[in-house]
Amino acid sequence: MDDLRNKYIERIAEAADEAVLEELRVQALGKKGEISLKMRELGKMSPEERQVAGPALNQLKDEINSAIAAKRAALEDTALDARLRAEWLDVTLPARPRRAGTIHPVSQVTEEVTAIFADMGFAVAEGPRVETDWYNFDALNIPGHHPARAEMDTFYMHRDEGDERPPFVLRTHTSPVQIRSMEAQGAPIRIICPGGVYRADYDQTHTPMFHQVEGLAIDRDLSMANLKWVLEEFFTAFFGTTVKTRFRASHFPFTEPSAEVDIQCSFEGGTVKVGEGDDWLEVLGSGMVHPKVLQAGGIDPEQWQGFAFGMGIDRIAMLKYGIPDLRAFFDSDLRWLRHYGFASLDVPTIRGGLSR
Ligand code: FA5
Ligand code: MG
Repeated sequence: MDDLRNKYIERIAEAADEAVLEELRVQALGKKGEISLKMRELGKMSPEERQVAGPALNQLKDEINSAIAAKRAALEDTALDARLRAEWLDVTLPARPRRAGTIHPVSQVTEEVTAIFADMGFAVAEGPRVETDWYNFDALNIPGHHPARAEMDTFYMHRDEGDERPPFVLRTHTSPVQIRSMEAQGAPIRIICPGGVYRADYDQTHTPMFHQVEGLAIDRDLSMANLKWVLEEFFTAFFGTTVKTRFRASHFPFTEPSAEVDIQCSFEGGTVKVGEGDDWLEVLGSGMVHPKVLQAGGIDPEQWQGFAFGMGIDRIAMLKYGIPDLRAFFDSDLRWLRHYGFASLDVPTIRGGLSR
């Protein structure tokens, strides 16, 4: 037994790797291993012999097992040490180039617009893009026979034949969020609502899906003067300079009086430039909220009044970033997206703070 012990302990100590260790384990303790065979011989011994040999064999078996386990742990440590010495990482190397997407100009401008109005105390509200015709039209003083319904080139949701429920529409503007906000919070109100809207339109400055940002301010004594100040303050912050605007008398069923605002620009040389040229691009509609609209939203027009506006986000993006055709915004052309897109770490490019 001492011979066996010496032989295995020595060989285990010399084992160069895991495979050799495993081989030794099988040789000693496997089914046909030397020690296993000896164990089997116990049966043929006299009880006296067995009493001595049994425990001794068991002890030998334990010794070999723990020698193997200790050696295995030592081999693993050595292997790990070798790996740690061989494998290392130069964290100063430049990263492998990875193709990154860009932030779409509409997303970028939405962030910018939100930051500017937030600075003026406007909270952000949201509403659904699939809207009831009541919120999109009736509540905004556009009854069924009103020409504005037809003018808006509305997309109607499909209804099964015989379904007489009022139709759902893809909202044609963000103005329904005015009503939803009035219902939700009552007066006073100061919110903006950016989001997607839909109309069957298609040319250089019109796309069937586009984006507006609604503004709504309701208080005791707000006037057109407040509206004009807010908008001019906004344009100055957004464009980073004063731009020439044109407040044009207009008509909306949900405001009285109403004005549309155009911005002076030129469309020459495959680009758009603000502050020069003799073109004007319409960017928004606005006005004093009609008493019937306040009523529809559950607000007493004898007590409260205010202004609202709906601005084309895509339009002001065209102007600020010199993009001459709105349709390209939604073509998903990678060259266009890389050219006009923004890096994900760009912060809104607006002046820090407002001129107050
Ligand atoms: C409206 O949608 C009114 N809801 C705006 C409003 C809100 C008036 C609150 C009063 C009070 P209008 O249809 O003019 O108005 O659209 C507003 C702006 O959306 C336009 O000035 C233009 O900048 C933009 N716009 C309109 N149609 C498109 C289109 N097809 N593609 C891109 N931008 C558009
Ligand atoms: Mg208009």
